Amino acid sequence: MRRPSLPAWAAAALAAQLWLAADAQAAASFDAATRVFRLDGGRVTYAFGVNEAGQLQTLHWGGRLADADPLGPAKSLPSHSSFDLSASITPQEFPAQGGGIFTEVALKIAYADGNRDTVLRYLSHRIERDALTVRLRDVALPLEVSLRYTIDPDTGVVGRSARIENLGSAPLRIDQAASAAYTLAPQDDYRLHHLSGRWAGEWSLQQRPVSEGATVLESRRGSTGQQNTPWFAIDRAGSGGEDNGPVWFGALAWSGSWRISIDKDPLGTVRVVGGFNPYDFAYRLGPGESLDTPVFYAGYSDAGMGGASRLLHRFERDHILPGDGKPRLRPVLYNSWEATEFAVDEAGQMALAEKAARIGVERFVVDDGWFGARNSDKAGLGDWTVNRAKFPDGLKPLIDKVHGLGMEFGLWVEPEMVNPDSDLYRAHPDWVLNFPGRPRTPARNQLVLNLARRDVRDHVLQVLDTLVSDNDIQFLKWDYNRNWSEPGWPQLAPEDQPKVYVEYVRNLYWILAELRRRHPRLEIESCSGGGGRIDLGIMALTDQVWPSDNTDPFDRLSMQDGFSHAYAPAAMMAWVTDSPNWVDRRETSLEYRFLSSMQGALGIGANLNHWQDADFATASRMVAAYKQVRATVQQGDLYRLISPANGSRRSATLSVSPDRRQAVLFAFLHSQSKGMQEPAIRLRGLDPGRRYRIARLGGGALPEAMPAEASGAYWMERGLAVPMRGDFQASGFVLEAK
Ligand code: GLA
Repeated sequence: MRRPSLPAWAAAALAAQLWLAADAQAAASFDAATRVFRLDGGRVTYAFGVNEAGQLQTLHWGGRLADADPLGPAKSLPSHSSFDLSASITPQEFPAQGGGIFTEVALKIAYADGNRDTVLRYLSHRIERDALTVRLRDVALPLEVSLRYTIDPDTGVVGRSARIENLGSAPLRIDQAASAAYTLAPQDDYRLHHLSGRWAGEWSLQQRPVSEGATVLESRRGSTGQQNTPWFAIDRAGSGGEDNGPVWFGALAWSGSWRISIDKDPLGTVRVVGGFNPYDFAYRLGPGESLDTPVFYAGYSDAGMGGASRLLHRFERDHILPGDGKPRLRPVLYNSWEATEFAVDEAGQMALAEKAARIGVERFVVDDGWFGARNSDKAGLGDWTVNRAKFPDGLKPLIDKVHGLGMEFGLWVEPEMVNPDSDLYRAHPDWVLNFPGRPRTPARNQLVLNLARRDVRDHVLQVLDTLVSDNDIQFLKWDYNRNWSEPGWPQLAPEDQPKVYVEYVRNLYWILAELRRRHPRLEIESCSGGGGRIDLGIMALTDQVWPSDNTDPFDRLSMQDGFSHAYAPAAMMAWVTDSPNWVDRRETSLEYRFLSSMQGALGIGANLNHWQDADFATASRMVAAYKQVRATVQQGDLYRLISPANGSRRSATLSVSPDRRQAVLFAFLHSQSKGMQEPAIRLRGLDPGRRYRIARLGGGALPEAMPAEASGAYWMERGLAVPMRGDFQASGFVLEAK
């Protein structure tokens, strides 16, 4: 059969894809004549050169250029005046504090003799296929910085990090260390997008002009935090949007205190500098010692905010999440936290497990309350032995039961924390972060163990290793329910104590990696009272994340929308819980709750003991429907068709499988108004020349006027009229290519 001829726009899209496939050769290269470095991957070129002053000067970060395009030699900008010197306004790859730089720097160092001036010059470089390392050295002192660059051949996502090395014989102190500085050439309509929030209110998408005066996104909390997430995107107000226009974006792979600053310099160049948060930071390097920064990833798309997040999702699935490029599909999970809180016991959990299995749940998780003297949040944290009053014969009978019902077994832990009312704290009061003689500020009645200490690190690993070895556990929900206060490490010299900001996180990563090495089939969720520790650093070591304790299905629509700008649905857990929901006391139908949660990795957290037969029937139907589409939802291309942000009454997303044979539409109506029907929803990302059959997700008749089958072009051009009447309405559809 001949393919129908394609409309011009579709042919152009296909040509672009073929071009991409043909040209998807990653490359790091150096042109010795012009002294220009280039990284080419996907549809992106990133280039910088060594200028006449020996500085590494940014030349291009954007769409792919032709091989022979003239990019160099780099030439520093002349001083604008005696106030804005050349070094300050020339876009440098890794500007250090020194030589009259007033823009945001990537590095600031203080020496024992009082010198606080660092001026870096190109020294040498090394190229491996798609990775590049460039060594810089201070003009006078034996301080070296190695900048490491990688580029992903498929998405063009660049990874950058720095190693700072003291090759001298005296110690020095690093006061500020970023991973990278990214710069954008002057334009007057750059617009910054970022995510902000708080406990139970994470993932609000913010937008503001990039203007003179820095915007600082950060966490000072010791962990990633809910206030901001380490991600940014910049588009252009004049040409940008969800579906088209250039977007530059980045994400920092660090789960400790971090900072990304975005600033426009006096001549209009935009700098994005990200890495360790300099707040309360200091890192002393003895002779021969070095500090490695985290990786700051950055990407570019010419297909709007939607194109940017699809690239980032793909990069996260292929290169960040565990699974060697093939993250496992998330099992449907049950967790009784909202239903029972701390009142877990063998009989109660067994009864819930039976009910969960009936509706098709694949992983049963026991949350907080199973260990030590843990009957509330006031005691027991730190004592990871089974509470025998609740589980008289240990966890084995329950685990066996859960396995017998065909489900995996998972357990909640919060290994970095301790209640003062615990055996662990009574035995080791010095194990927590503290300043001697100062109060220790509790939060949720708990203190933070100083994981930076080797003995604490080893203890935590050993406890978890024993737990997972002694019990047949497939999954840990790893929680972290407060931020730091009194970040002291009294066992170290005062000038070394701020190293805690780095060493704590490294040890956390080490424990996670070691635990996974010893138990290769164990899966882990990153939770921090909701979405307080989600970033590309922790995602490399955890299989899924808990975006928020807020499980209200309507609030979740905008939170999931915000989340999806930075992180892949492949890892995003979403639970169906009880109605009215505890957060807003909002009442919604069970079907609405399911469709909201099915936008991510489905979980159920409702009290199944309160369900009627009809609820079990609905749930079974929706869980079965979800299993048919979850590969597409979790690992397909996400199109945000109608945004729920800014009080929108309606919203819609479409997930399209990589082969474009299946597409899943979720549509929601907050409230109908004035009897009006909502406009048709036009789909995106389908193959225009294929025919797709449409069905309701979870079964049921199609709306009267909707054709049962039409071409991709039809669904994209004419769209679907989705009749929804009333408040808190939801519809799901699945399109299958014939
Ligand atoms: C945090 C988590 C919840 C639950 C409780 C248990 O708040 O986000 O999901 O696990 O801790 O104490």
